[in-house]
Amino acid sequence: MKTPSNSLSLLLFLLSLSSLVQSLTSPSDISALKAFKSAVKPSSITPWSCLASWNFSVDPCALPRRTFFSCGLLCNSAATRITQLTLDPAGYSGTLSPLLSRLTQLTILDISDNSFSGLIPSAIFSLPNLQILTLRSNSFTGSIPPSISNLKSLESLDFSHNSLSGNLPKSLHFLSVLRHLDLSFNRLTGSIPKLPPNLLELALKRNSISGYLVKSSFSESTQLEVIELSENSLAGALPAWFFLLPSLQQINLANNSLTRLKIFPAAASGSDLVAVDMGFNRIEGNLPVNFASYPALSSLSLRYNRLRGTIPLEFSKKKTIKRLYLDGNFLTGKPPAAFFTSGDDLVSGSLGNNCLQGCPESSQLCAPSQKSNAICKEVYGSGRGKGKPMT
Ligand SMILES: *[C@@H]1O[C@H](CO)[C@@H](O)[C@H](O)[C@H]1NC(C)=O
Ligand SMILES: *[C@@H]1O[C@H](CO)[C@@H](O)[C@H](O)[C@H]1NC(C)=O
Repeated sequence: MKTPSNSLSLLLFLLSLSSLVQSLTSPSDISALKAFKSAVKPSSITPWSCLASWNFSVDPCALPRRTFFSCGLLCNSAATRITQLTLDPAGYSGTLSPLLSRLTQLTILDISDNSFSGLIPSAIFSLPNLQILTLRSNSFTGSIPPSISNLKSLESLDFSHNSLSGNLPKSLHFLSVLRHLDLSFNRLTGSIPKLPPNLLELALKRNSISGYLVKSSFSESTQLEVIELSENSLAGALPAWFFLLPSLQQINLANNSLTRLKIFPAAASGSDLVAVDMGFNRIEGNLPVNFASYPALSSLSLRYNRLRGTIPLEFSKKKTIKRLYLDGNFLTGKPPAAFFTSGDDLVSGSLGNNCLQGCPESSQLCAPSQKSNAICKEVYGSGRGKGKPMT
């Protein structure tokens, strides 16, 4: 006859047996995780990191995950599938295993701020449920393959701060639910292809993107709010339609090779444009008065271009403007007095390093000092303001 304690231990034994036998996580997900971990250099897996806790003698989705699989992944509620792989920034190096494509329920893949290198395996572009893909701040090389457009659920793509090269794939605009695209700080070349129709934010800062801004790239960009294209090689005139994209709030085109603001358009009603930076280009011509027609504009930089003519009175009357950088041009005449009468703290920025007359030295807006008479005379001829700025 069994004692109660015997049957209890039998029960416990059976329970522990069942938890051993019954692997919760799908075998193909486990094999993907194993492949993922073994593509990471063992010496880069530090003792208290997430990957150090991945011990495949236990089931990855089994709860509680205190000792093993304590971080880096998330399972669905049935504990059968991996839904998120979000690594800690622990300095992991190695490559990204193409077998990750087996994690077909994955919605988030984030391995940012590590030292992964090699090509981005195109196998991961077959993940049908992936919504967020973040490989930011690693050392990936190679180009972005056209198959990226297979990520039909992708809402956010961040490959910034890697060493990716080549052109942006033309298939990009098939990413129909993509909202955020950040490819800044890479070595990408070529021109901007047609953009995805639901994009809110485009960031391509510090690459080697070249060519003109053409309407066909932006023809479906009715929701685009933020355009960050600074430190590239964009050239030519800035077309009028660009500033009239209906949802625009921030534009950064600083440090390119733009040469002209075509006919600069007055704001469309309801324009939300708040900040424009086009500093450090080669923009010629007069300062367009139409900037003052943008109802929400609060920050404008056109510093270090080749603008000339006077500063329109409308700029000083515009109460929304809080930051105004027009330094480093060939602006001439007397700056509007309203800039200086209502107190310096209203507008910050600079009108310095121009050809202005009577910019009060007491105002911080007037620093640094204006260009020498000799330079301004050379630009404008003998005081008539008709000559083209020397370039
Ligand atoms: C994994 O867990 C098993 C069982 O708890 C243990 O014996 C083994 O040493 C662990 N392996 C590592 C690498 O920690
Ligand atoms: C553009 O270049 C200038 C001069 O090198 C630098 O000071 C500025 O921060 C750059 N601006 C942007 C937005 O890249």
